[in-house]
Amino acid sequence: MKYIAVVNYNSPGLSGKPDDKLQNKLISLDEMYRLDVETIREWYKEYVNPGVEDVIYSFSFGEDLVEEAEGAWMYFKKKGKVFDATGGMGVLTLGHNHPRILEARIKFQQARRMEVHKTVFSPYTAALSHNLSSLLNGKLQYSFFCNSGAEAVEGAIKTAYKYHNGKRKHILHSGSAYHGKLLGAGSITGSKEVHFKFPVIGGTHPFVYNSIDTLKQLVDQLRNGGGTSEIYAIIVEPFSVSTLTAAEDDFLKQLRTICDKDDIILIFDEIYSGWYKTGPLFYFLKSEIYPDILAISKALGGGKASISAFVSTSKVFKQAYGNTSDAFLHSTTYNGFGEECVTAIEAINTMLDENVAGRTTLIEKKIIGALENIQLKYPDKIIGWKGAGTLFGMQIKVVPDSLGKLAEILPVGYTRERLFISKLEAAVFCDYLFRHYSIYTFFGGQSEVFVLFSPAAIVSDDDLNAMLAKIDDAVARFSLIDVVDFAIRKFRKMVF
Ligand SMILES: Cc1ncc(COP(=O)(O)O)c(C=O)c1O
Repeated sequence: MKYIAVVNYNSPGLSGKPDDKLQNKLISLDEMYRLDVETIREWYKEYVNPGVEDVIYSFSFGEDLVEEAEGAWMYFKKKGKVFDATGGMGVLTLGHNHPRILEARIKFQQARRMEVHKTVFSPYTAALSHNLSSLLNGKLQYSFFCNSGAEAVEGAIKTAYKYHNGKRKHILHSGSAYHGKLLGAGSITGSKEVHFKFPVIGGTHPFVYNSIDTLKQLVDQLRNGGGTSEIYAIIVEPFSVSTLTAAEDDFLKQLRTICDKDDIILIFDEIYSGWYKTGPLFYFLKSEIYPDILAISKALGGGKASISAFVSTSKVFKQAYGNTSDAFLHSTTYNGFGEECVTAIEAINTMLDENVAGRTTLIEKKIIGALENIQLKYPDKIIGWKGAGTLFGMQIKVVPDSLGKLAEILPVGYTRERLFISKLEAAVFCDYLFRHYSIYTFFGGQSEVFVLFSPAAIVSDDDLNAMLAKIDDAVARFSLIDVVDFAIRKFRKMVF
């Protein structure tokens, strides 16, 4: 395979600087690999998204580029080896570039396999669907593969709607849920991450997470004159990642009973929490009840493939799409592409062969022990922590309440946000970890802001211990001065 190089590879002006020669031509792949961080920043400002450039450049890692990544490690050009404590936001259960995942993809390419047409049988789609059904004990049986989590959620919603043949118009979701940012998934996302009011699908109703009473009230209200339910689906995250809160066992069991009674489709979103991220294969398995449709993604792609899926019971899928005339009612161009499916098959087998379940149990124990200890040692800096499996968040506080008011006088819109100071502290701590301890992590949350630690499940004991010891040391040293210093650097750029 030859790539078409539009610009002569050896031509002058390819130093990576955004000069005219490069600016106005198409660049080749070779040239792309040689771009320096300044050019990439400029091009983010000009061609990608200036706001994203601004956010990334606020942090020390915005001054550098990642050259390689392997296992739990990233290799930056200037800084060198950095521990990846993000777990790729759910994607990297097997770490970066796991050899089995690379091999599966390379083999697929070398054999010049075909993956485009939907009108010839795909062994990849058939085998991956078979495996998912086996993993889910045949209780969930039919799979549709797509690329993003939000697409899987929307596919699940459409299936539930179609199951009721469009006769029911309402769907219930948690008021703190995060289901994605497409219009449909965004309509049932209560999380404040989606703060702008885009158009929504109709008939959505929020309940309070873990409150069966608020949910029952809606179920009772939304009935027609004959008493039949008008709700086609209830969607819930068995573990809410944006609040680091688990659905209670009793809540899930009662939910199942309510759905069974009124023939409402129960959808579980385990896009982030699944694949051992929060302990078991899927968090709902703790409760020994099954949904009618399950949405999954993230670690399913082994850190390489963009793949997601919704998996339905036989009854629901056949009722919704069982007729030949309805078979293509839901499809996308890139659904079930071969290399993505092959990667997912290998990712699942690797997670089982490498006993990710057992590793997760050990990692969970170690992180809990370390966080308990850190909170005991520094009670004035750590407000709390939460999490499960390999996903944990810690709330750090070094800015006294009296100083928090100062943010309100800064002439920058988002400083008026209620959680501004908490977000600032968490962001600065992330930057501090990167600069002084070579740990890369992130922060998030809704009503509480967490610095998140979520290492890949393949992390070695030594690396995990080192990460936890470094976090302990960082908390000991981190102070108000670091926050002020960061704020001055950032806001001087934005305000003056
Ligand atoms: C629980 C949950 N559902 C849905 C999504 C949306 O997935 P995507 O960003 O791939 O659309 C996410 C993304 O983080 C998620 O955590």
